[in-house]
Amino acid sequence: MDKKTVEDIQVEGKRVLLRVDFNVPLDRDTGAISDDSRIRASLPTIKYLVDRRARVIVCSHLGRPDGKVVEGLRMAQIAVRLSELAGLPVSAASDCIGEQVENEAAALEEGEILVLENLRFHAEEEANDSGFASQLARLADVYVNDAFGTAHRAHASTVGVARHLPAVAGLLMKKELEVMGKLLDDPERPFCCLIGGAKVGDKMDLLQSMLDRVDILLIGGGMAATFLQTQGYEVGRSRVEEDKLILAGRLLKEAGERKAHLLLPVDAVVAEELTAGVMTRVAPAAGIPSGSHIADIGPGTTELFCGELAKCRTVLWNGPMGIFEIPEFAQGTRSLATFLSTLNASTVIGGGSTAEVVQEMGLSDRMSHVSTGGGASLRFLEGATLPGVSVLLDK
Ligand code: 3PG
Repeated sequence: MDKKTVEDIQVEGKRVLLRVDFNVPLDRDTGAISDDSRIRASLPTIKYLVDRRARVIVCSHLGRPDGKVVEGLRMAQIAVRLSELAGLPVSAASDCIGEQVENEAAALEEGEILVLENLRFHAEEEANDSGFASQLARLADVYVNDAFGTAHRAHASTVGVARHLPAVAGLLMKKELEVMGKLLDDPERPFCCLIGGAKVGDKMDLLQSMLDRVDILLIGGGMAATFLQTQGYEVGRSRVEEDKLILAGRLLKEAGERKAHLLLPVDAVVAEELTAGVMTRVAPAAGIPSGSHIADIGPGTTELFCGELAKCRTVLWNGPMGIFEIPEFAQGTRSLATFLSTLNASTVIGGGSTAEVVQEMGLSDRMSHVSTGGGASLRFLEGATLPGVSVLLDK
């Protein structure tokens, strides 16, 4: 880790602006927090700061309010949950910038925590406006970024503010960068990457990056249809990304040349409609019926993939194997999640929907690491430099 962390600076008694990613999912009907993993994940940094009597000013975005106040996206309920989880009093500010907030921040006693209002209520946040960044910076003496999940965004609170205050990584940011960095630079081998998800287009850069690094690449999910078609299989009514066929073909060829062992599904759960309650059946990859969609990997593929995973010392998983939101098409994803949780290997779960599956199945604690970053972990593993990381002080 070549960036300074909160452990490398003096925080005792200081006012610390702590950027976290508390962009947690909210229940569609009630608006309540439906998964507080991201809040839990930043508790070590918050406790570290409080134990050192820092005055902690927590800031985050929540949802995409597009520069306007949206009542359902206020940070008040996040502050309440943080207080419950940390077992400490937490107050919520009326805004994230301005005179009143400056007074509230200035009035904080040692070890006290203040949660600012949603940063994205101000359009200047996403615009990385320098005036907005300097207003945020006025609240504190140092800046700690623990928001790995937002580190791919060059916003005022992730990038701009670092021009005004000494900027270091929090403990969650440090952990994410170390775990993900090891996957890129020095994984224990054999190293397998299991990739799924709906679209090849979303994962092409990840596939390319992984091809250079892994011993085994397993491809499932809706995107497998494009690869199967490249290999000459009929895929029925499955969505094929015509504009990605050439890229997919090139990737398969490169895998052969590099001797990375690349495997596609050998069978699939197929259905005529992609809706709950439909009739499903299992078809071999070479015999997908013309009127059907591929909706999940089949049991033969699950067995094949598990056999490969069992050989590995490191596994990265990004993207579900089927349309797991629909129970009829969730079995492949669920079986692989369960299998990974029993593996004696380093198991790293990319964020976003893959993390959601593992969390919902209660398996998070049985994986080596479940990333809090969706887009951010994808960008990082593609080999990109994250703007929110590059602005932090070098060691
Ligand atoms: C995420 O949930 O991936 C991060 O919080 C970033 O959110 P955004 O995609 O709205 O920028």
